[in-house]
Amino acid sequence: MRVLVVGGGGREHALALGLSGDPAVTALIAAPGNPGIAAVAELREVASTDPAAVAALAVEVGADLVVIGPEAPLVAGVADAVRAKGIPAFGPSAEAARLEGSKTFAKDVMTAAGVPTARAYTCADQESTGAALDEFGPPYVVKNDGLAAGKGVVVTTDRAVAERHAQDCGRVVVEEYLAGPEVSLFVVTDGEAALPLLPAQDFKRVGDGDTGPNTGGMGAYAPLPWAPPGLVDEVMRDVVHPTLAEMRRRGTPFAGLLYVGLAITAAGPRVIEFNARFGDPETQVVLALLETPLAGLLHAAATGTLAAHPPLRWRDGAAVTVVVAAEGYPAAPRTGDVITGADRAGVIHAGTRRDADGTLRSAGGRVLCGTATGPDLAAARDAAYALVRDIGLAGSHHRTDIAADAVAGRITVPA
Ligand code: AMP
Ligand code: GLY
Repeated sequence: MRVLVVGGGGREHALALGLSGDPAVTALIAAPGNPGIAAVAELREVASTDPAAVAALAVEVGADLVVIGPEAPLVAGVADAVRAKGIPAFGPSAEAARLEGSKTFAKDVMTAAGVPTARAYTCADQESTGAALDEFGPPYVVKNDGLAAGKGVVVTTDRAVAERHAQDCGRVVVEEYLAGPEVSLFVVTDGEAALPLLPAQDFKRVGDGDTGPNTGGMGAYAPLPWAPPGLVDEVMRDVVHPTLAEMRRRGTPFAGLLYVGLAITAAGPRVIEFNARFGDPETQVVLALLETPLAGLLHAAATGTLAAHPPLRWRDGAAVTVVVAAEGYPAAPRTGDVITGADRAGVIHAGTRRDADGTLRSAGGRVLCGTATGPDLAAARDAAYALVRDIGLAGSHHRTDIAADAVAGRITVPA
């Protein structure tokens, strides 16, 4: 199988590592890729949000499967354009990707499907925003009603901050605050059959102890030793299958990766958000534990044959990833700094580039992730931090508490 991966971040590096480990893969091409991906794939340039350009590249490289990593190409219709050439694409149509692209659309689908989620109002002016903030009270949750790469959400007890965010965004969703630990559950689906991956947890705030602004994600671990038994079955029954059924009913089935972001509240799991793609950096840990060949799995989802796919197999133990971020991330990341200690197993590249002379430099906010597995979470965590310690990048920062509460048994579901 010849596989083309679209994207060039840490998630795509993790996908490329998984795909290259599948014996059925005879050629792996990544566009645009990054210097880490270059070790396992042939890199090609492409304007990844240009559906015609990606489809043409898929034809040119003779792809049997195109795996689309980030949300922007999906929302732009890249999967549709690839499928129109008769090539299987792993990723939803533009219509179905609206589950991520529009918070209002996602809330409509959840309401129609009876999916448990936070109560919410879409607000486009100061008056309706104020009324919604009054009704729910602090902490306030205000979300940009469009694609914001994980950075369009403000959760704050400061009313003025909430109001300013609403004004800056124009159209927002104001919603009820959900208290409880968060879970990222990834589900591979062909629109009808659906296979859950291991639940993971990511760390959205930039600072230790969940302080500072939201980011794209500063680290992750899987599986979740504290998760209530039956959690995944419950989410499949109450969230995933009703949502897939509603998308089919609308004539826009969702096929690809449904990312369910949940809060485990006293009343049970509640959906915080849907994404239409693998999460970053949770993918780094989830795929590190997947034993089932990845290309075969994604190909089955892309060709509507997932019901016939064997059950997934997982490695024992746990995985942890720690993101190394550039100075100034998330507000204003500095790029162009020299990186050392990165060319080794377990170091996943996100925002990196390589000079002609081989020097590795930072090229984005989230630069690298140290990813490791171990017989248990504590061992995986130690190994991931050992990788991070050996990375040299001037001004960089990382969280020091990734998976620490889970290792110490300090995570509890509110009663
Ligand atoms: P989102 O982009 O919707 O995932 O939001 C980013 C982060 O904001 C989430 O991972 C949560 O940490 C937080 N968040 C979003 N919505 C809520 C909510 N209704 N209650 C509590 N926290 C939330
Ligand atoms: N890790 C959060 C996301 O991918 O949106």
